[in-house]
Amino acid sequence: MSTYTITELPLLISTPLEWATKVLADPIDLLNDHAHLEKKAANNAMDMLNRWPTNPPPASWVANMIHVAKDEVEHLHVVNKLLERRGGVMSKSHKNAYAAALNGLIRLGEGHKEHVDRLLVSALIECRSCERFALLAEASDGVDDELHHLYSELWRSEHGHYAVFLEMARLITSESIDERWALFLEEEAKIIQQQPFSCSMHGWV
Ligand SMILES: [Fe+2]
Ligand SMILES: [Fe+2]
Repeated sequence: MSTYTITELPLLISTPLEWATKVLADPIDLLNDHAHLEKKAANNAMDMLNRWPTNPPPASWVANMIHVAKDEVEHLHVVNKLLERRGGVMSKSHKNAYAAALNGLIRLGEGHKEHVDRLLVSALIECRSCERFALLAEASDGVDDELHHLYSELWRSEHGHYAVFLEMARLITSESIDERWALFLEEEAKIIQQQPFSCSMHGWV
């Protein structure tokens, strides 16, 4: 049984532990993909800094986005260090069909609604990543101490990020986001299962 409380996450579909065992077969590819995701997460938080939902933004907006961006850059630093120590190097380009499909849910150009959707997509990605880190921590336990330590630490951090994005989405609108969040969770469950397997963070089994 997992020591990482995946059950706290609202995801509608659980990734089998087998996924983690399979992706750990190629740590270089996995770490490279992961490094790019951390870089994109840092960019996303910085980008949100410039997408103020109101002027001035909610009191916690700037501090929260800076906090997330700083965490993500730290994660990028740690993941890249591990990647390089193992003989890898970050590739120039990177694609993430999972995130691209989730971004397709965003109501672009619809002002406030776009902000809510962007925050919900960010929360979803953090949520799924959090689940995946928990599985990776479990699968690497007793197999690869360095990776086990990495994934255990990241699980804690990403769990906090998911909560921050969801809280921000609730804060910036007077309307309930519950229905939208429920829809996004349903869509995410479909999208994640449509991803082909690869040694990456967001493939399916
Ligand atoms: Fe991160
Ligand atoms: Fe994160």
